[in-house]
Amino acid sequence: MAIHIVEVGPRDGLQNEKAVIPTQVKVAFINALSQTGLAEIEVSSFVSPQWVPQLADAPQVFEQITRKPGVKYTALVPNERGLSAAIEAKADKVAVFTAASETFNQKNINATIAESIERFKPILASSPVPVRGYVSTAFHCPYEGKVHPADVVRVIQMLLDIGVSEISIGDTIGKAAPDEVRQLLDAVFPICPAEIIALHFHDTFGNAIANVRAGFEMGIRVFDSSAGGLGGCPFAPGAKGNVATEAIIRAFPNETGVDLNRIRDAAAIVANYLNSSEPPPHFC
Ligand code: HMG
Ligand code: MG
Repeated sequence: MAIHIVEVGPRDGLQNEKAVIPTQVKVAFINALSQTGLAEIEVSSFVSPQWVPQLADAPQVFEQITRKPGVKYTALVPNERGLSAAIEAKADKVAVFTAASETFNQKNINATIAESIERFKPILASSPVPVRGYVSTAFHCPYEGKVHPADVVRVIQMLLDIGVSEISIGDTIGKAAPDEVRQLLDAVFPICPAEIIALHFHDTFGNAIANVRAGFEMGIRVFDSSAGGLGGCPFAPGAKGNVATEAIIRAFPNETGVDLNRIRDAAAIVANYLNSSEPPPHFC
């Protein structure tokens, strides 16, 4: 298929939900996603449960899902402890995550960019599975404003130097416009080929599909998205959902190999749970 979708709904989509979603709902969601034609699903994060309580059940989710042959089940890991847990859970691939802006990185993982790279080195040195590297706030930071492409290039180079096999460039707060996508890719291509770049758009201002198209026109073929447009980051005020997987399938009907109706059915599992678990209206 021309486009490879990385479905991040179970991780990025759910991490921001305030209501605690039971493990069996997450498992049903992932099992339904496995039947859609997706080839890669980010299942959860092995991060501190104090920081992201919603994903504290990552080991149980990995244990209980039914794996479909050919589908990669992946996880975020912030440190060596996360890597050990992800390998124990038989993750097919892991992702480390840092940012192009210092303030966001500090709020997200309590480390400077340089410290985060030091933390990742032993992960890259020992991981038996491929390691993706996320660069958050690649366009705008909720704390520092506009991020310069040179800062993104610098962080991508640091991640490439320690050996990540793929870079996912994140518009964490969904503020990028297609011109900014083109400008950033122009700056990144001299050090990083399009073949190992994924684009990760949130859709706060409705630009995400235009941004995906801009990336596609420049040769990018891997896009992160969430079924139902779930998502956000608890440490990025204003971050809304990821671009909806459904929207990418509609924009590229013949290129993704993913079934739109089945994605809708999978997203409905989470939506139905959230709707049915909302507290009743309070009349005073
Ligand atoms: P810290 O507080 O600086 O470090 O957290 P710590 O070593 O003191 O750990 C704090 C507690 O967590 C300790 O527990 C550790 O043992 C425990 P205590 O001793 O107090 O009981 N701990 C762990 N527990 C389980 N698994 C682990 C782990 N590591 C430590 N792996 C840390 C530093 C990195 C751990 C923390 O900041 C953290 O977990 N942050 C995660 C933040 C996060 O998940 N953010 C969302 C994902 S990023 C994102 O959404 C952006 C993205 O979508 C792209 C985009 O949109 O831009 C990827
Ligand atoms: Mg994200």
